Amino acid sequence: MESYVLGMGDLVDRPRVVLGVSGGIAAYKACELLRRLTESGHDVRVVPTASALHFVGAATWSALSGHPVSTEVWDDVHEVPHVRIGQHADLVIVAPATADMLAKAAHGLADDLLTNTLLTARCPVVFAPAMHTEMWEHPATQENVATLRRRGAVVIEPAVGRLTGVDTGKGRLPDPGEIFEVCRHVLRRHSLARGVTEPDLKGRHVVVSAGGTREPLDPVRFLGNRSSGKQGYALARTAAARGARVTLISANTGLPDPAGVDIVPVGTAVQLREAVLKAAEDADVVVMAAAVADFRPETYAAGKIKKKDGQEPEPIVLVRNPDILAEISADRARPGQVVVGFAAETDDVLANGRTKLARKGCDLLVVNEVGERKTFGAEENEAVVLGADGTETPVPHGPKEALAEIVWDLVARRMK
Ligand SMILES: Cc1cc2nc3c(=O)[nH]c(=O)nc-3n(C[C@H](O)[C@H](O)[C@H](O)COP(=O)(O)O)c2cc1C
Repeated sequence: MESYVLGMGDLVDRPRVVLGVSGGIAAYKACELLRRLTESGHDVRVVPTASALHFVGAATWSALSGHPVSTEVWDDVHEVPHVRIGQHADLVIVAPATADMLAKAAHGLADDLLTNTLLTARCPVVFAPAMHTEMWEHPATQENVATLRRRGAVVIEPAVGRLTGVDTGKGRLPDPGEIFEVCRHVLRRHSLARGVTEPDLKGRHVVVSAGGTREPLDPVRFLGNRSSGKQGYALARTAAARGARVTLISANTGLPDPAGVDIVPVGTAVQLREAVLKAAEDADVVVMAAAVADFRPETYAAGKIKKKDGQEPEPIVLVRNPDILAEISADRARPGQVVVGFAAETDDVLANGRTKLARKGCDLLVVNEVGERKTFGAEENEAVVLGADGTETPVPHGPKEALAEIVWDLVARRMK
């Protein structure tokens, strides 16, 4: 069997992915997902429903995947495809998953090849639903989603945006690149765990802040910082792939929305505090990865501050911003809520980290060294995760997603 690197240093056999496509208008977006999966070395078998073929034809799926395509159990019966395809899969992803497909899967119906495959698969299963808001919000659909999640499937929350017609709302298929990221994470965890497929954050609500706050001076200028938000987004993305309901409080990042994550955009530290406190009310975990300004200008000039001939500029007076990490650590919204902070330090990194952990009162503090060319904006990171219980977990230089996975491992252990 061919081997390849998943991008995180783990050598695995070429994974076999079943891409189930059901009959929604977003079926065309699954072509992009298929392309990403095949180009990154996955062996993909597409199993569309008969309705899906009204939207994208069998020739497209077959040519792009390099495999024959059928919708029914009656083709190539000597190969017993209704059992074989599911049994041999390392991952099944259904994208888009219609309301009808979620209902069939939740109730164990098996009237075509895809529904049979879902019953025979023993690998991780991911559904990416897409439908009109009314269909998504209907109690029948919500109960079907809850059933599938309870059984261990990852059901990615649909995105909010433009739907089939002129209407907008929740129900849009997330960006195929982001669905691909979920597939990659789920496969990687499955391969590292050697067969344990349960999404360990299922049923948990996690809140992640990301990015850097901007404190306005006037309508065109602000005091900001270099945080790109990539570490926070990696935390949100990996938590969603581990089954969590994720609220991502995003400060000035400009990054693409991770699939299945509710995004709350904010600008300033005060706005970030409000959003975090609200989302934390029913959260099991709060991870403060955003770089929050310690100070903000005391005054905001309603008009642009002008240069005046012969005059020096007025000094900028700063006032303290609220310490959100200390506040949520001291006043937990729920008993047992786990709070994780980040400390970006330039000198005496570990010593400052220990002092900060004691001062803030959080459960875990991810301490990393930052500088103009370190951490901010980079794809990689290196850190030590300090625990309030005295533990120290060094995380070697690697992708921000690898650090995110370790943070969730440590959090999951504390929630048990
Ligand atoms: C133009 C059009 C667009 C549709 N889009 C969706 C959709 O996005 N999501 C959905 O759940 N159903 C959608 N439907 C309805 C499904 O096609 C219908 O429920 C079908 O029975 C689904 O079959 P399947 O689940 O076997 O693929 C659409 C139907 C039409 C005619």
